Amino acid sequence: MSNSLLPLVRRSFLRTSVRRSIPTSLSCRTLMTLPAFSLEGKICVVTGAARGLGKEFLTAFAKSGARGACIDLSLEEGKASVKHITEHISSQSSTENCKPELRAYACDVTSEDQVKDTWGTIVKDFGKVDVVVTAAGIVENFEAENYAYDRWKKMIDINLNGSFLFAKEAGKYWIEQEIRGNLILVSSMSAKICVRPQKQAAYNASKGAVSLLGRSLATEWGPKGIRVNNLCPGYMKTDLIIDLLAKEGKHIEEGWVKDVPMGRLAHPSEMQGTIVWMASDASSYLNGSDIVVDGGYCCW
Ligand SMILES: NC(=O)c1ccc[n+]([C@@H]2O[C@H](COP(=O)([O-])OP(=O)(O)OC[C@H]3O[C@@H](n4cnc5c(N)ncnc54)[C@H](O)[C@@H]3O)[C@@H](O)[C@H]2O)c1
Repeated sequence: MSNSLLPLVRRSFLRTSVRRSIPTSLSCRTLMTLPAFSLEGKICVVTGAARGLGKEFLTAFAKSGARGACIDLSLEEGKASVKHITEHISSQSSTENCKPELRAYACDVTSEDQVKDTWGTIVKDFGKVDVVVTAAGIVENFEAENYAYDRWKKMIDINLNGSFLFAKEAGKYWIEQEIRGNLILVSSMSAKICVRPQKQAAYNASKGAVSLLGRSLATEWGPKGIRVNNLCPGYMKTDLIIDLLAKEGKHIEEGWVKDVPMGRLAHPSEMQGTIVWMASDASSYLNGSDIVVDGGYCCW
C-alpha cells in the first residue's frame, strides 16, 4: 500500500469503528460484543411476560437472537406483548430476517396441570427449551397481624409454588434430555432485607423462599450441567410498582428514593443486560447465586 493512502485508510477505519461502537439500529450480525453473550439458537421461556420485567426479559432475549415463549394468565395479553416486542425489534432492525419468533401461551403458574400441559406444548412447538425465567409474581402490602390467610396463601402460591412448578418441569426435562439448561428464578432484594415503609411479610417470605429454592436446585442439578440462579431486582418502575404507588400514595416513592444510593428507581429496561448475561454462556460458571441489581439499596 502506498504511504499516501495510509492516512485515508486510518481515517476510514476510525470512522467505521466509531460507527460500530455506537449502534443506532439493530442489524443482528454487526453488533460488536463477546460472542458468549449471544443467544442465537436458544429457546427461552419466560413466565409473566405479558408485561413488566418478564416482557423486558423476552425482549432482551429476542434482541440477542433467541426464539421464545411468553407465558401469562391471559392469551390475549400474551399475544399483545409478543406483537409489541416483534414490532419493536423489527422497527430497529436493518435486515428483514431480524423478525424474532415468539409465541404466547396462557397458563396459570399455580396450576400443576396447566404448567405440565404448557410445558409439553412449548417443547412440541419449538423442539427444545434451553432457558427458563420465572417472572410471574405479585406483591401486596398488609400488616402481618391483619394478613388474611387466604391472601397469604395466594402470595406463596404464585411467587413460590408457581416458580417451583416451572422449575420442576424444566429440571425433569433437562435431566431426561441431557440438556445443560439454564434456570433463572426472579426473586427480589426483598429476599435479602425488609424494605420500608411498606409492610409485606408475605412477599418477603415468598422471595426469601424463592432464593433458597434456587440455591437448592443449583446444588441438586449442578452436577448435571444445569445452572440455576436467582435475579434479585430492587425497585423497577414496572406496572406492578406503578399500581402499588397508586394504592399507597406517591409520597412512598420519595421515601424509597432516599434509600437508594443512586437516588432513583430503575427503568425496567435496565435489567436487559443482566438477564442476557445470566441466560448466556457469558455467565458459564455462575450457579446458585443471588444477583442483586438494586442501585445499592442493600448496601445500607
Ligand atoms: N417491579 C419491581 O420493582 C420488582 C422488584 C423486585 C422483584 N420483582 C419481581 O419481578 C417479577 C415481575 O414483576 P413485575 O414488576 O414485572 O410485575 P408485573 O405485575 O408488571 O408483571 C407480572 C406478570 O405476572 C403475571 N402473573 C401474575 N400471576 C400469574 C399467574 N398465576 N400465572 C401466570 N402469570 C401470572 C401477571 O399477569 C403479569 O403479567 C415478580 O416476581 C416481582 O416480585 C419486581
